[in-house]
Amino acid sequence: MTQNSASKLLNGDTVHRTKQDKKAGGNGFVKNHCLFQQKRYRRPAEKNHHASCTSLYKKPFVESFEETPLLVAVLTYMGYGILTIFGYLRDFLRDWKFEKCHLAREREEQKDFVPLYQDFENFYTRNLYMRIRDNWNRPIRSVPGAKMDLVERVTPDYNWTFEHTGKVLKDVINMGSYNYLGFAENTGTCADAASECAVKYGVGVCSSRQETGNLDKHEELEKLVARFLGVESSMVFGMGFATNSMNIPALMGKGCLILSDELNHASLVLGARLSGATIRVFKHNNMQSLEKLLRDAIVHGQPRIHRPWKKILILVEGIYSMEGSIVRLPEIIALKKKYKAYLYLDEAHSIGALGPRGSGVVDYFGLDPCDVDIMMGTFTKSFGAAGGYIGGKKVCSQFYCQWRITLDYYTHTHKNHTCWFESGLLPERLCQLSENTTYFRRRLHEMGFIIYGNNDSPVVPLMLYMPAKIGAFGREMLKRNIGTVVVGFPATPIIESRARFCVSAAHTREMFISFHMFLNAICVIGDLALCFRRSNA
Ligand SMILES: Cc1ncc(COP(=O)(O)O)c(C=O)c1O
Repeated sequence: MTQNSASKLLNGDTVHRTKQDKKAGGNGFVKNHCLFQQKRYRRPAEKNHHASCTSLYKKPFVESFEETPLLVAVLTYMGYGILTIFGYLRDFLRDWKFEKCHLAREREEQKDFVPLYQDFENFYTRNLYMRIRDNWNRPIRSVPGAKMDLVERVTPDYNWTFEHTGKVLKDVINMGSYNYLGFAENTGTCADAASECAVKYGVGVCSSRQETGNLDKHEELEKLVARFLGVESSMVFGMGFATNSMNIPALMGKGCLILSDELNHASLVLGARLSGATIRVFKHNNMQSLEKLLRDAIVHGQPRIHRPWKKILILVEGIYSMEGSIVRLPEIIALKKKYKAYLYLDEAHSIGALGPRGSGVVDYFGLDPCDVDIMMGTFTKSFGAAGGYIGGKKVCSQFYCQWRITLDYYTHTHKNHTCWFESGLLPERLCQLSENTTYFRRRLHEMGFIIYGNNDSPVVPLMLYMPAKIGAFGREMLKRNIGTVVVGFPATPIIESRARFCVSAAHTREMFISFHMFLNAICVIGDLALCFRRSNA
């Protein structure tokens, strides 16, 4: 971190103070350097914010989002500028057939049609993403556990196509899978229970649940999920993405208002759009921004007619997978109660990964699950399975049953999901995950790397900033047998490219040697200036 840069610290109570005691940034975040030294969080110095005036947090809530240093920002924009100029040059060469063109193009005989493919639309994909495409979609040949086997590929045409060499990269340390509890395994109690279940029930039901696809296993799982979440009832669906995109339209429609966090997942965004409701976006985890929208919604009602909104729904996630931040749930619940709005919480990344019982952010903050109207989550992350759920009051499930799109037109699978809850492995793995997360974050911080997110989040983004570093970092890590996920624009803001690590309970004590190897490898790469380090580290 440079002297001028500062962390944006969300410490449970919003303090309008920066390092120099100037006013806070536009997003209401506090800027502060300390990440791990922060022992206690402060009381608010001013009372011009609302939900956080009383003590809503029972323990320190420390998040760090360091501002991009000015020089790095300038160099990053320059990097994108150079890539864009070269992109235009190469497009010109392709147009004049000096360079082979691999793009989807209209055929000669279609030239009188309105073009189906807009030439400029995928400029970014063909000229920037294609240069580093080898870092994504790598085929694997094992379970995505703490270690995995990667299929080796080569490209004869600069990443437009890939060929398998037939070789396998063995035992690559997997820092990219959402395998928080380490259930991505093909041996052990859960794997055995799942295979037994597959033998008994087959691998699919070949029908929607409203017809002949409803199994006793589905109902058993629904009861178990409801118990685990501490809610009256739950419903399970075959796919997490569809759980959001198909169920939000069941709740919301014309004349309703959705207030959505700017960093919400695509499935939530799609669900909100499909619902036909009016959507307003608030700044990420920013309570002032949310409260302003809520207040305006109540005061002004619907545009033009000024009638009250039929319903107002706040859409948030538990852990944001690109930032590693945790939703400020106590404040959101306080706001939702104050303005009588509903709350939809997507726990895809937090279920199983947070809280003393592992039941997500509600558990983490020690809140009452009844304060969240719709709890949504998936089995694809912590539980190493497939599908999603919706939990809440009984009437909520009955309502979904009546709406029925996901039930009537969706063919369900059924894997034996119950085994993860019943295996008794959860407490032990939760503990391991929390230990690993703390250790992993602390080591990276001590080594001087700039990391984002909440201290308790197993998602750990490490900032790379510049576009050229995205590909180089991924490749260098793989050379050292470490599989990582690198992310850039448009998944992140343009100057905030990053590597994103996911800590798992499967990275056990016995694997700390590998961890050290991994940290060491990052250090070496760091010395090559692939990652940005604090100047005072
Ligand atoms: C926040 C969030 N919600 C929903 C989903 C969709 O879940 P699935 O991958 O199980 O379809 C994801 C997937 O990554 C997610 O991150």
